[in-house]
Amino acid sequence: MENLSPRAGELEAIEIASREEISVLQLERMKWTLTHAYENSPFYHKSFDELGVHPSDLKTLSDIAKFPFTTKKDLRDTYPFGMFAVPRERLARIHASSGTTGKPTVVGYTARDVETWASLVARSIRASGGRAGDLVHIAYGYGLFTGGLGAHYGAEKLGCTVVPVSGGMTERQVALIQDFKPRIIMVTPSYMLSILDEFRRQGLNPRESSLAVGIFGAEPWTNAMREEIEHAFDMHAVDIYGLSEVMGPGVASECVESKDGLHIWEDHFYPEIIDPVTGAALPDGEIGELVLTTLTKEGLPIIRYRTRDLTRLLPGTARSMRRMEKITGRSDDMMILRGVNVFPTQIEEQILKCRGLAPHFQIELTRSGRMDDMTVHVECTLEAADETARNVSARELTHHIKNIVGVTTKVMVHSPGGVARSEGKAKRIVDNRPRE
Ligand code: DLL
Repeated sequence: MENLSPRAGELEAIEIASREEISVLQLERMKWTLTHAYENSPFYHKSFDELGVHPSDLKTLSDIAKFPFTTKKDLRDTYPFGMFAVPRERLARIHASSGTTGKPTVVGYTARDVETWASLVARSIRASGGRAGDLVHIAYGYGLFTGGLGAHYGAEKLGCTVVPVSGGMTERQVALIQDFKPRIIMVTPSYMLSILDEFRRQGLNPRESSLAVGIFGAEPWTNAMREEIEHAFDMHAVDIYGLSEVMGPGVASECVESKDGLHIWEDHFYPEIIDPVTGAALPDGEIGELVLTTLTKEGLPIIRYRTRDLTRLLPGTARSMRRMEKITGRSDDMMILRGVNVFPTQIEEQILKCRGLAPHFQIELTRSGRMDDMTVHVECTLEAADETARNVSARELTHHIKNIVGVTTKVMVHSPGGVARSEGKAKRIVDNRPRE
């Protein structure tokens, strides 16, 4: 794989600024955000008043802990436009997340917000090894989802040639990669695996493709999956994080030269880690729920948004800004089996250890009596598709999950193509437990 470390002069000054400089900027911007939210968003005016706090109470960055959290429910309760801090006419763009239950959450951007977003995605693509002139194949979904358009504007801003393919039509994805020869692909890691299968189905060697960098996010994925994809395509696989409530993709990104967690673009977002149960702030280094405050957003400033994503904060390495460790999972995706907490990422890691298994999987939850049961549905590889090999793989995976994750599961090994595929975010958990 190519060495893609940035050359001197390629980084923005703030990316290598001192911690002191970053904190000074954050404090100034945080004060602006609190005042803007309080004065222009009736929602925040009310919630600050209810808690008896005023923007002038913020003297240091850690004073942010005095302010109320914002949750997904707040966005739902104020559907569609109740949280905006500018008149609707000043919004240049609306996005929304589908939401599995209830109303979607709607977010809005002023023209300046769209511009900031594009520059942060451009910064993320550069951190991943992209440069002006690169051809970028975007297979994140276009539409209300922030993935497609977020990636698109960022790649354009960096000066790349953008191919806005969106998700789906996997055969065509491969044909376009073969014909246009992109250097970069931006797509969910689970859909990248479907594209990989399609390469193989067409008898093509993915290692010979033009792809040098994949920028993967929108769902949890493990370092084991990174190795799998890097090896299969002979490319760098880099993690990008974001969420629509806070902006979209580009809140944080890994650097290709270190791949050691995602640098949070702290000049625009202030991260905290809290205990998900008590809400108390946790020190850097401890795992908990990521909470984010926007520092420059006009249309929808967000104060202390509870992301539900579990991670920890680590000091900067390739950049001065702090890193968040690769996300273990969302607190919503945590399964509790006989008292043991289990995340789909832990199952993914174990599957990738079994040579006879392909990394397509779903976890089914059922209930017998008062006990919850978990069945892992996974596919065998083409080379290990006979019954004996499948039984060996099933036993191997059951054994790894029991020994390392600590739970007893059933494993069902399906034929290649036998597990539902994603064209965007993978659905890892199928909950077939009776409703209470
Ligand atoms: O998924 C934005 C995005 C698009 C990020 C493309 C990266 C690439 P939402 O649909 O609002 O926005 O979903 C946000 O997805 O809270 C996480 O749970 C999860 N997520 C996003 N990126 C990552 C990642 C977009 N790199 C939710 N690792 C977040 C793990 C991620 N989970």
